[in-house]
Parts: sequence; C-alpha cells; structure tokens
Amino acid sequence: MLVKSAEFVCSNTQVDKLPAPNLPEYAFIGRSNVGKSSLINALTNRKGLAKTSQRPGKTQLINHFIINDNWYLVDLPGYGYAQTSKKNREDWGKFIRYYLTRRENLQCIFVLIDSRLEPQKIDLDFCCWLGEKGLPFMLIFTKGDKQSNVKSDQNMAKFKRALLKWFEEVPRRFLTSSEEKVGLEPILAAIDEINAGFEPPIVTEEI
Ligand code: GTP
Ligand code: MG
Repeated sequence: MLVKSAEFVCSNTQVDKLPAPNLPEYAFIGRSNVGKSSLINALTNRKGLAKTSQRPGKTQLINHFIINDNWYLVDLPGYGYAQTSKKNREDWGKFIRYYLTRRENLQCIFVLIDSRLEPQKIDLDFCCWLGEKGLPFMLIFTKGDKQSNVKSDQNMAKFKRALLKWFEEVPRRFLTSSEEKVGLEPILAAIDEINAGFEPPIVTEEI
C-alpha cells in the first residue's frame, strides 16, 4: 500500500468523543518507549507525525491519524512506565482497556515488542488479556537494527513459544526497524487486506 496522505485528526481520553466509527481502525500499543510513535512515522513516511521521545511516557492520549482518507491509525500511550504513579497506571489501564473493548471499528491491535528482549511478563500478560477478550491482534517486533537478525529471530521464537502456552495458534509476527525502514511493507499489506473486507458498523439512531 502506498501512503499518499497522513493527517493528525484528534487526541482524546474519552471514547465517546472519538471520530465516528465509519472507517477501519488500527491501534498501536506496547510498552512505553518500545517505538510505537517511531513506527507510525516510518509506516507513513512522515517524520514528525507522531511525537517521539527518548524519555518513556511521551504519548499520553488516544491519538487518531487518518491515512489516505480511508483508515485510522491510532497511537496509544505505552504501558509499564515505571516513573509514574500507581494511580496513573490504573487510569491508563481503565481508559485504554475501555477503548480497546468498545471501539466498534477497531480491526486489529498491533502489539509492539522490543526485539532485543527475552519475553517480558508484562507483554505476555497483555497478549493474554487480548486473547481473553477475543480481540484480534498481531505482533510487531521493533528496533531490529539494534542487534543481529539471528538474535531478533531467537527472541521472536521465544515469544512465540511463551504464547503457545496459552494460545493454540500465535498471531502474525513482523520484524521491523523504524530507524532503517525495514519490515514496513508487510504491515501495510496486512492492513490493506483487512481494509478490503471492512463493513462499517450499523449505527442505530434513537427515534
Ligand atoms: P511512548 O510514547 O513513551 O510510550 O514511547 P513510544 O513507544 O512511542 O516510543 P518512541 O517511538 O517515542 O521511541 C522511543 C525511542 O526509541 C526513541 O529514542 C526512538 O528514536 C527509539 N527508536 C524507536 N524505534 C527505533 C528503531 O527501530 N531503531 C532504533 N535504533 N531506535 C528506535
Ligand atoms: Mg509514543
């Protein structure tokens, strides 16, 4: 898929203020600092579209971007940010979980995992929660340029094995580097494929 246009639409903490659910939507989520915003910029080939930072906890809201006037891409705040209060973490959980379970046009959740790390409990727990809720997701391993492909492949295989303890099948997996623009096209192709079958939810108006 060619990204011809990519525009910021809005930032929100409230699900009832989000854009009408008439276009397919894809959310990017994962640990704080894993590279969500960088990946969104790489996928759309727009440097400053999503705000990135070396400091974890940069993205704090539900950020909607519209791509090719045809689908929404959503940048979410990261989980597992240690430098924040317990109350903040609980609030994060509440509003993100609410968004993920209630958003009718959400087609797929891309869970980002740092390819340099062995499987982390927080990521596995999050995937299990998605599984329990029956929410469709795929895995994107980030920062592939930071070590050899062999090392990345090993960590991806370990993550797959860990998930197979809970899941019968593991979802699709992608290895990427936003820095070197590697592994992006297969993600866009997966989105394209889902977009082709999208039917807007039927909105029933109150009489
Ligand atoms: P929060 O919004 O805080 O949850 O973080 P985030 O997941 O959006 O991470 P962000 O994209 O802001 O990136 C965090 C840091 O990782 C930045 O310093 C990026 O430059 C760096 N980074 C992200 N992706 C890559 C990558 O593919 N390769 C390398 N080498 N660095 C990356
Ligand atoms: Mg971010």
